[in-house]
Amino acid sequence: VLKDTGFPKDFLWGGATAANQCEGGYKEAGRGLANVDVVPIGKDRLPIIAGLKKSLNFDEEHFYPAKEAIDMYHRYKDDIALFAEMGFKTYRLSIAWSRIFPNGDEKVPNEAGLKFYEEMFKECRKYGIEPLVTITHFDCPMHLITEYGSWRNRKLVEFYENLCQVIFNRYKGLVRYWLTFNEINMILHAPFMGAGLVFEADENQEQVKYQAAHHELVASAIATKIAHEVDPENKVGCMLAAGNYYPYTCKPEDVWKGMQEDRENYFFVDIQSRGEYPAYARKELERKGIEIKMEEGDLTLLKNNTVDFISFSYYSSRVASTDSKHNETEGNIFASTKNPYLEASEWGWQIDPLGLRITMNAMYDRYQKPLFIVENGLGAVDEPDENGYVKDDYRIDYLREHIKAMKEAIVEDGVELLGYTTWGCIDLVSAGTGEMKKRYGFIYVDRDNEGNGTLKRTKKKSFDWYKKVIATNGENL
Ligand code: BG6
Repeated sequence: VLKDTGFPKDFLWGGATAANQCEGGYKEAGRGLANVDVVPIGKDRLPIIAGLKKSLNFDEEHFYPAKEAIDMYHRYKDDIALFAEMGFKTYRLSIAWSRIFPNGDEKVPNEAGLKFYEEMFKECRKYGIEPLVTITHFDCPMHLITEYGSWRNRKLVEFYENLCQVIFNRYKGLVRYWLTFNEINMILHAPFMGAGLVFEADENQEQVKYQAAHHELVASAIATKIAHEVDPENKVGCMLAAGNYYPYTCKPEDVWKGMQEDRENYFFVDIQSRGEYPAYARKELERKGIEIKMEEGDLTLLKNNTVDFISFSYYSSRVASTDSKHNETEGNIFASTKNPYLEASEWGWQIDPLGLRITMNAMYDRYQKPLFIVENGLGAVDEPDENGYVKDDYRIDYLREHIKAMKEAIVEDGVELLGYTTWGCIDLVSAGTGEMKKRYGFIYVDRDNEGNGTLKRTKKKSFDWYKKVIATNGENL
């Protein structure tokens, strides 16, 4: 029997970003406005993200970091050259829907937007970098929100389908790996940010969220179908904000709670990967009085068009407890009980490398399909020294431990893993807080929370470290 000694030869090492968090250029070449543009930094951000407070345009009193972000729109060639220097095999990026369909409901796409991504993908290919493309990373054209109510409306499925037809045909041969919706479960926690949903005062929010989720799930199955029809080489993945729940104690009630919390997340992947509404979800929806309107053919469509691989983000494990005296973790959109055994980042996100191995095993046991870790990393404050150099040993430590855990899952447990893209390989705007100060990158970007700075790019210590990791295929950690 041959023993695996490490990462597969064709393992896809790389980094990940999202259009709205790095591109800027929010009005360039006919781009339309989107939900992600109008979310300001500051105390109003959370209620807006949650869909509880309306923000459908810019105002004078707030700062909107996505407008310019790190200006990758104009600097992508330099940025991709730096990724290539690190030896990236893949680069995960997202398409801004409103660059291609500024309003979302047009019949004819915006050529300038299509061209922009075509150039970007070609730039990747020039260096042998495989683009991994998220079709929607939290963004929804504003017109679809104001005119149709976003994903609560079935019409969105049609508009998304149109987008998919256009991009799969246009980028055939340039892109093979696709993700349909970034962190699809985010719709439950950050419905405006995740899916453009804004709630009315008296409506049943759960009802709206699950109906919108159904539309996204149907859209995801349609995307998978079209992707395979257009090019049988295409590989389509779902994408979950993952991190398994641990019961706080062995008290059966805590264990049961942990299982239920996990299922709230698995719900999405169960449908995208196994092709059916799971029994526990049908019962739970019924209990909550949530009725999902379906069209004829929806269930067959879901059944026949399951994903090729399972991708997910992992930052931390989570804890479930039935005892309200325990503290919650700070600063996380997914608030969870604090784990007394773990350290935390400056933003209160707890650090648990073994949790990654646990999560990978749980997902692989459940779905038996290749996994792809498409986000992982440490958001931290970086202080450049007098030469502008950042010695980010804390980031290296975080990544090293997670890569070790991931390697154990592959070598010791036999989990099939296609690749690993660290989050925010270049510093970018935080999705949760809107800050620039919360940095994840191997590349420092000179810009602060208020939008000051030269936008100059500088390699951090982790840049050379990650370069070596990739060059040795994970041997030299
Ligand atoms: C994920 C998102 O939730 O986590 C990213 O897919 C996001 O868009 C990342 O940036 C890190 O979260 P934050 O809030 O630190 O930016």
